[in-house]
Amino acid sequence: MVSLMINGTEHTVDVDPDMPLLWVIRDVLGMTGTKFGCGLAVCGACTVHMDGFPIRSCQTPVSTVEGASITTVEGLDDPVAQAVQDAWVELDVPQCGYCQSGQVMSAVSLLRDIPSPTDEDIDAMMSGNICRCATYHRIRAAVHAAADKLEG
Ligand code: FES
Ligand code: FES
Repeated sequence: MVSLMINGTEHTVDVDPDMPLLWVIRDVLGMTGTKFGCGLAVCGACTVHMDGFPIRSCQTPVSTVEGASITTVEGLDDPVAQAVQDAWVELDVPQCGYCQSGQVMSAVSLLRDIPSPTDEDIDAMMSGNICRCATYHRIRAAVHAAADKLEG
């Protein structure tokens, strides 16, 4: 058994301790906002927050996050997250959408750390999130828009 705190709710799951957190989130708990892309920690589609910091859940054994607070895209609820989500909608960022929950999770982390990021800050933080539809220019614009809204 592994005990997990996800989006403020405790879950006890009967799984192999080495099972990737992503599998537990999607297949055991049915939260499908977090996506499986590469499975190798190189695309960012599976990004969730552990104690506020982005991690790649596809390469994180579930037993290693016991005692931590995990947030998925379904659990984002602070003003930074709201500003990012609003900007994503207003600038119509997604194309196919598959990578976008990971993009949003990384963008929220970035703006919590750096409230007014430069293009270079954005590119550095977001470079680990691959988008096959090449929405990168809209992602960058949406991060700036969210930052502007938060500075308001
Ligand atoms: S699915 Fe985890 S980084 Fe690609
Ligand atoms: S919107 Fe299609 S992969 Fe990013």
